[in-house]
Amino acid sequence: MTTAVICAAGKGERAGLSGNKVLEELNGLPVLSYSLSAFSGSDEMIVVCRREDEKLILPLLRPYPNARTVHGGATRTESVYNGLKEAKGEIVLVHDAARPFVTKKIIDGCIESVTRYGSGVCAVSATDTTVLVADGKISGVPKRQNVYSVQTPQGFYRDKLLECYEQAFRDGGEFTDDSGIYARYAESPKICEGDRRNQKLTYPEDFQLTERIGFGTDTHAFYGEGEGAPFINFITLGGIRIPSEKILKAHSDGDVLVHALMDALLSAAGLRDIGYYFPDTDPAYKGAFSMNLLKEVLRLVREQGLAPKNVSISILAETPRLSPHIERMKESLSETLGLNENAIGIAAGTNEKLGYVGELKGITCYATALLKKIR
Ligand code: CTP
Ligand code: MG
Repeated sequence: MTTAVICAAGKGERAGLSGNKVLEELNGLPVLSYSLSAFSGSDEMIVVCRREDEKLILPLLRPYPNARTVHGGATRTESVYNGLKEAKGEIVLVHDAARPFVTKKIIDGCIESVTRYGSGVCAVSATDTTVLVADGKISGVPKRQNVYSVQTPQGFYRDKLLECYEQAFRDGGEFTDDSGIYARYAESPKICEGDRRNQKLTYPEDFQLTERIGFGTDTHAFYGEGEGAPFINFITLGGIRIPSEKILKAHSDGDVLVHALMDALLSAAGLRDIGYYFPDTDPAYKGAFSMNLLKEVLRLVREQGLAPKNVSISILAETPRLSPHIERMKESLSETLGLNENAIGIAAGTNEKLGYVGELKGITCYATALLKKIR
């Protein structure tokens, strides 16, 4: 029988978030939920948490009848000890909830190492050269092949680890992880295969991994014969004027590309659509330059702690020919979106004379946007 002791009782101070980092959303799920899913095959999961976070943590355990909470302590060592005392499994796997990218493969390797060698501490070999420093000077350079970064899970036989913890508490020592305690009071623990992707989320930039995708579309009709088109000879797409015999009907400047893009950005941020923020019944938006509305949309998106990472746009227009203008459209969008031009894809095509686009009745644009977390 195996128990996973999942440590979630920290404050996450270095992450600088408003609450505990293990409850922060990462691509649609709280950080802790990734570990719960990865360890769900264990016979028992003990989530060590702070009393004040328990109300938020309990609902995340609902899908897992084998999971329950135990209250943590002021240090990680105390938290693990509290979890260990409650664990029923013969083997315990101690894991930090702040490592959401743990996989079943890592966990299985860790268990195998425990059954074969009595312990299994996930680790990866160092990529950087590491040095010892004293008084701001390098005092030693260990051989790189001897240097590893230790991760979690760390697996042991429960009774043996618990004994080590009891001794450690009697001695009043401070240890950063289980392998240190086990090495001090039992024996040198065995290393098993971690994964470079199994990183611990510690600082604000570690949370920028969140990405959100959004999709938007817009269509505008051309003026037909005798419909009183205004006396202009261009349409506006991507914030630039493109010579055109056919003129688009619109309340604003009719920039279908920017409208589709704004909806993609708003949608990716989980916000409402452009009709909600800029109603076309509002005279304020009559003849509006859509690039200015795009700036407002970007402000709304940034308010959610998000910013564009890349955008991809596809325009369907039988006329005018757009390919000579694509580079300029990219330049114009690049400036407003704050993205390199290679993060902006624009494709333009006809509709092979089919449908309303093919019959020169209008233009349609599709856009997708990927957002990244900026705080
Ligand atoms: N942890 C714990 N009990 C504590 C302190 C930490 O269970 N008293 C847990 C954290 O929730 C985290 C893991 O141990 O999953 C690794 O610790 P760390 O990355 O230091 O997290 P925090 O202590 O929450 O963060 P910080 O040190 O920045 O406050
Ligand atoms: Mg800490």
